[in-house]
Amino acid sequence: MANQFLLLALLATTTFAIATAFEPSPLQDFCVADPANPARVNGLVCLDPKLATAVHFSFKGIHLPGNTSNPLGSKVTPVNVVQIPGLNTLGISLARIDYAPYGVVPPHTHPRATEILTVLEGSLYVGFVTSNPNNQLISKVLNTGDVFVFPVGLVHFQKNVGYGNTISISALSSQNPGVNTIANAVFGSNPAIESDVLAKAFQVDKSIISHLQTQF
Ligand SMILES: *[C@@H]1O[C@H](CO)[C@@H](O)[C@H](O)[C@H]1NC(C)=O
Repeated sequence: MANQFLLLALLATTTFAIATAFEPSPLQDFCVADPANPARVNGLVCLDPKLATAVHFSFKGIHLPGNTSNPLGSKVTPVNVVQIPGLNTLGISLARIDYAPYGVVPPHTHPRATEILTVLEGSLYVGFVTSNPNNQLISKVLNTGDVFVFPVGLVHFQKNVGYGNTISISALSSQNPGVNTIANAVFGSNPAIESDVLAKAFQVDKSIISHLQTQF
């Protein structure tokens, strides 16, 4: 009997943990985000469902290549709750990424989403790094039709290693995955992190830190 209670208690805690670790399940059919509403909630406020139309659930133009003429040689076209207000509370989104030859999506994390990436055309070197203390790099070269997963919160990157342009499409397990680009966060924060902190963290001279800070 005692064992059964223990098992039940364990089950209840795990279920609760799963329910709170990620986005809560919707409590209605949908909750189209209403950007005009000034209320602040965990997510976005729902538009009156009677006012919802197909426009709130659709996006046009994912077939169009992004402009990769920038220093990274890559362009992300996001399709999340910002572009499709009907995604609010549904825990899913998309992104198209275009890569010029040698184009890179620099190391970054999505604080709220696991990402599953498919190469539509070309070749990508991709990888993610596990947390401390192992910091194991799990990486692979992907070709057209290959799929790869970046687990939630882990630092990951992509590089075009094909002969021409590469295109990938990702699904993400949040309507608002968030992006934290490591270099921008560390060297381009506003205001800047004191260079003493970064000099010690990276074990280099402060002049190197200043140089890196001027890049962002
Ligand atoms: C792509 O971006 C570059 C740099 O911002 C710009 O000069 C160029 O006109 C853009 N090309 C297109 C087709 O929009």
